[in-house]
Amino acid sequence: MADIINPADKLSEKQSEYMKLIAEIMEIRKRGEKPLAFVRTYGCQQNVADSEKIKGMLAQSGFDFVDAPDDADFILFNTCAVREHAEDRVFGNVGALKNLKRKHPQILIALCGCMMEQEHIANRIYNSFPFVGLVFGTHSLHHFPELMYNSLVNGKRIIERGNDDNKLYEGIPVRRDGSFKGWLPIMYGCNNFCTYCIVPYVRGRERSRDKNIIFSEAREMIQSGYKDITLLGQNVNSYGKSLPDGVNFGKLLSEIDSIDGDYWLRFMTSHPKDCSKELIDTIANGTHISKHLHLPFQSGSDRILKAMNRHYDRKKYLEIVNYAKEKIEDVSLTSDIIVGFPGETYEDFKETLSLIKEVEFTSLFTFIFSPRVGTPAEKMDDPIPYEEKSKWFRELLDVQEEIAAKRCSSMVGRIEKVLIEGETGKNDELTGRTSGNIIVELKAPANLIGTFQNVKITKARNWILKGELV
Ligand code: SAH
Ligand code: SF4
Ligand code: F3S
Repeated sequence: MADIINPADKLSEKQSEYMKLIAEIMEIRKRGEKPLAFVRTYGCQQNVADSEKIKGMLAQSGFDFVDAPDDADFILFNTCAVREHAEDRVFGNVGALKNLKRKHPQILIALCGCMMEQEHIANRIYNSFPFVGLVFGTHSLHHFPELMYNSLVNGKRIIERGNDDNKLYEGIPVRRDGSFKGWLPIMYGCNNFCTYCIVPYVRGRERSRDKNIIFSEAREMIQSGYKDITLLGQNVNSYGKSLPDGVNFGKLLSEIDSIDGDYWLRFMTSHPKDCSKELIDTIANGTHISKHLHLPFQSGSDRILKAMNRHYDRKKYLEIVNYAKEKIEDVSLTSDIIVGFPGETYEDFKETLSLIKEVEFTSLFTFIFSPRVGTPAEKMDDPIPYEEKSKWFRELLDVQEEIAAKRCSSMVGRIEKVLIEGETGKNDELTGRTSGNIIVELKAPANLIGTFQNVKITKARNWILKGELV
């Protein structure tokens, strides 16, 4: 079981003290003007949720937020290590801050998140970017105020990576980005060690949050007007395994679902090895649970699934998916796929294609395998050249485009409940999403943003629907 640190409602006294001290320092430096922070987040929703905590701590330290780094007193990049491309973007964007630091030497530039938990990356950042003052990993989030205070006061560069694997910190203030769509972490870390994946190394072991804390947070969100809440974890289906009282994800989901209100409850990510029929029944019988299941299968070939250490096979995957289709009316299925895992042949890849044709996903997140330092797959024989993998990748996109178009066309004429999310930026149109997480564009007044509306679907364009207010 994880050691729960400070399960009370407030962050430890010590960190609160540091936030006060930062506010005082900044007040003097800015001569009474509000200090400004710029926070950029890379990677998955887990990182978005972490950034919301960092912003919570910054807000409590007196900061306001800006959308561009130019005027900021504090710049933070929260980084992602999942693929090489994600890391390259960070390196490029950090390099671009050099001139800003030269112009305004008093600004503090910090990097945090998953990339920083890798020793070789943290060292590279430290050595190549002397203008970066503070580097900390995912395990150091809870004492960010202390780290920031030390950076501000003694001006020395700080690099901090931890491996506080078995601890879980509660009571950190959160400043959510959205006012009607929000993330709610229910667990941290991952124990699965899929052979391609860096996440367990940079996020540590699986820790489930206390059910009552999650429940109160969900209730607070619903009461303050959140309409779309996503429960977050790398493998939500194993929620509760590290807790003593036999709670599991299905129970947590039903309990939250019992809270009154007009809202949708989503969750991600589910792992097929732990996705039970009971869970599907819970979704099917839920009041607020969205009719969407994101269930990454990664590969359609059993040989590759084994090499990936995924602990399910094609047959088991199809069994769950078919059960979901049978029980959840008009279920929307989405998935993640890796193309070109080491040793994958075109024959294996064709099994992935046949699986997506069989299941008919609404949308897919597709990636070309990217070797990650320290993972088993990095050392596996990988004879297929990148160009060849790119060809397979494009083939996959073409097949999926057709499937998505077909699925979306089948919705034309229906009336769907849609959460209106924002403006498309063209033709005074708004954009929203269905319960199945499908995008709908429509003409409607902007004051409807953040509300549920009934929308008649009039057209389908690939994976996007067009509609009109009913
Ligand atoms: N916990 C989630 C996924 C987290 S990472 C799950 O298990 O489903 C999100 C996706 O990134 C993964 O599903 C996988 O498709 C992809 N991914 C992870 N590591 C990768 C790598 N080394 N190369 C390419 N894609 C990768
Ligand atoms: Fe990575 Fe696998 Fe854990 Fe997902 S379940 S985060 S893919 S190790
Ligand atoms: Fe990236 Fe870390 Fe998420 S590696 S995908 S930000 S858990």
